[in-house]
Amino acid sequence: MDRDKTATRLLRSSVANTYDPEVEIDWDAPLLKDKYFCPPERCSLYGTELWERLTEEQRIELSKHEVASVAGLGVWFETILMQMLLREYYRQDARDRHAQYALTEVGDECRHSVMFGRMIDRFGCPYYRPAGRDGWLGKYVASTAIGPRMYAATLIAEEVLDTFQREAMADERVQPLVRMVSRIHVIEESRHVRYAREELARQVPLSSRKRLAFDRLIIARTAWLTGNRLIHQDVYRSVGIDPMVGRRAARENPHHLATMRWAGERVVEFLGGLGLIDGPGASSLWKRSGLL
Ligand SMILES: [Fe+2]
Ligand SMILES: [Fe+2]
Repeated sequence: MDRDKTATRLLRSSVANTYDPEVEIDWDAPLLKDKYFCPPERCSLYGTELWERLTEEQRIELSKHEVASVAGLGVWFETILMQMLLREYYRQDARDRHAQYALTEVGDECRHSVMFGRMIDRFGCPYYRPAGRDGWLGKYVASTAIGPRMYAATLIAEEVLDTFQREAMADERVQPLVRMVSRIHVIEESRHVRYAREELARQVPLSSRKRLAFDRLIIARTAWLTGNRLIHQDVYRSVGIDPMVGRRAARENPHHLATMRWAGERVVEFLGGLGLIDGPGASSLWKRSGLL
């Protein structure tokens, strides 16, 4: 079976390219005073009037909180994904390579969430994460999602994060700690993206129309959440900007809008190719996600 072949390959790659952040990262190394936490052009306020008023030090501080926010959303998504993968694993045969890979991916995500948590703590930042209706949606998806909506929601989070991290890991203006964390994550996530993409492409043609109509809604809502919650509004407090004012400025900022489209490009193309983006209720959520 094809998916067994993929799983076998991914299991082999996991042996060769798995990193323990506790060992690989020098957690005691000091943060550098003059380095940004992400490329400055990727900050949500870059180029706005508010940005012009900030000192260099404040801009760096804001970039730190924005990266903490992205990492916080990453942990939140990973914790949901681990629950979905465990449920999938539970229904399968423990001898099956595909099932074994699901469990191996849970292992990767365990290390990632500890790594992101440590990084946020090292920054001295709060754990920014979705709350309210989004928190409820997370719990619902974590305990019920299977099939296409599970894999598509996973891909949205993984591929958007991956786009930011691929760029950050290669940028010398960025803090070495962020670059290292990004590099470890990018290497291990490429397996996850492969696994989810192949499984999703296999499952869509086998799913009923009715089921896909519901899945499109959940997928679109996930896209909306990713686009709108990636940068938590409270990050603006760190530089003395009112959260509502900061959020409004970001939403009107052409640089930020372009950044979100850039981050969504790959996954949008893939999901669009499978016919998972259009549909009643879904299209408008996607439009408002900023990822299209
Ligand atoms: Fe991860
Ligand atoms: Fe992942």
